[in-house]
Amino acid sequence: MDYKAYIANRIKVEGVPSEEIALAIAVPPDTSLGDYALPCFKFAKALRKPPVKIAEELAASYVTDEVIAEVSAVNGYLNFKVSRKGLAQDVLMRIQNENTRYGSSDMGGGKVICIDYSSINIAKPFHIGHLSTTVLGGSLYRIFNFLGYKAVGINHLGDYGTQFGKLISAYKRWGNEQLVEQGGIRALNELYVRFHREAEAKPELDDEARAYFKKIEEGDEECLALFEWFKALTLKDVERIYKLLDIHFDSYAGESFYQDKMAPVVDELREKELLIESRGAQIVDLEAYGMPPCIILKSDGTSLYATRDMAAAIYRKNTYDFEKCLYVVAYQQNLHFKQFFKVLELMGKEWAKDLVHVAYGMVSLEEGAMSTRKGNVVFLEDVIAKCIEKAGSILEEKNPNLENKEEVATKVGVGAVIFGALYNNKIKDITFSYEKALNFDGETSVYVQYTCARAASVLAKAKEAGVAYAQAEIVEPNAQEFELMKALADFPDAVVSAAKNYEPSMIARFAVDAAQKFNKFYIDCKIMQAEPQLRAYRLRLTEAALTALTNALALLGIGVVEKM
Ligand code: ARG
Repeated sequence: MDYKAYIANRIKVEGVPSEEIALAIAVPPDTSLGDYALPCFKFAKALRKPPVKIAEELAASYVTDEVIAEVSAVNGYLNFKVSRKGLAQDVLMRIQNENTRYGSSDMGGGKVICIDYSSINIAKPFHIGHLSTTVLGGSLYRIFNFLGYKAVGINHLGDYGTQFGKLISAYKRWGNEQLVEQGGIRALNELYVRFHREAEAKPELDDEARAYFKKIEEGDEECLALFEWFKALTLKDVERIYKLLDIHFDSYAGESFYQDKMAPVVDELREKELLIESRGAQIVDLEAYGMPPCIILKSDGTSLYATRDMAAAIYRKNTYDFEKCLYVVAYQQNLHFKQFFKVLELMGKEWAKDLVHVAYGMVSLEEGAMSTRKGNVVFLEDVIAKCIEKAGSILEEKNPNLENKEEVATKVGVGAVIFGALYNNKIKDITFSYEKALNFDGETSVYVQYTCARAASVLAKAKEAGVAYAQAEIVEPNAQEFELMKALADFPDAVVSAAKNYEPSMIARFAVDAAQKFNKFYIDCKIMQAEPQLRAYRLRLTEAALTALTNALALLGIGVVEKM
């Protein structure tokens, strides 16, 4: 039940469309006055009346029913109390019927949303900086699919550029097959780091690297084979992390994929007289838009990151005919995205408005918290492993007899890393702390997982005792039951808002809020010890809570366990 829309449809304010009224309706912080409130000062101008008067008039004309039980006017606010029994019926039936699909919808109508995320660089470590793009993008992928869109996950690999010439040079000088095959990305990265160190004293190394890169571009067999091998090794290495995080891509078309797709873009820019020469380079002047120029070709004729991104955007539009194309990339690249979006717009691509840079803040580790430091890099895999290990010891302490300890520790540890990156508004910089992320009583995934296990264990007891509850009669809920039901009823809204704002944190916050309300209910109200009719009713509510929480965590990429 969309209460806001329901109320808005029953209120007439001259000159204000009902959608606008629905948007103005809020959930008051103190719910003793009402479950929803409409601040009437918003209409004072349109109606040329004081808010107090507007509220009084609207209250007098509102007809209550089985959905909205009470309406009152207080200080210019119109307060609504929903019918508790009506809400109980609505939310319990709906969750039961929709089950794993509760919160989903078909609002997307199959329209395509491209999501460029994770987008790692070949032969470079998969470090803590890639955490947010990977889990944010992964969550958006699930959320959009859940809402009936067709999400296309794209890993825009950083697999093009002179660094690959450097890598080949370093490999030939100091590497060998066994070392690289065994060491994977870490070995490749060490070679790369060594190249930079040695090139400081021997600048001729840079010429050698440039020559190798040129060979890759020209399709030299040996160089290409090495490059493909580095790429395969990198992908194999990160596959482990993607598996742990349950992350999927529909395409791995990276920068090198666009090698032969850039010339037409450059031609088109030239044709449209957007290209100008500046110190030998080909650029698009963006001064009129308050931005530095977007460089398309360097003076030696080579392309840039932006050129490849333009070719990629055009390719994606032609291939997927997206409704939106999202780029889940750190805010450090704000200018890059603004620039090439603008250039595409200047080229007359009306769909440039559908390109969205989903920017996020930095993740760092609390000082002293990191396990492995290789140079300045904190490997994401090490962070996840450490979190799983810590989760394991906490579980061991709390519940030494737990079965499948390893599986539970993995779900808890991985969940903590994901949730740590998703709980806050994405643009905020965050400091990851193992301790905070694994706090059973905090605003954490383990708190939500623990709540789910608690609910599951009550349901298991009921099953053991042969207590049926699926058809339990729905009666007027008490305060704790009602608060929990209201929280659960918010889930579909939270999913839609998360999609609209590209903000999975809204689902994470829903999960914590609903878990808190469940625990209050669980502690204050007897479930299995209640008299039979009430017991069945509360079990039915417990199951509904478990379903909604499970769905919420699933959208974030976090699993639940039955016992912990
Ligand atoms: N590989 C890039 C980096 O690590 C991110 C690529 C993001 N996607 C894009 N289409 N530019 O910085």
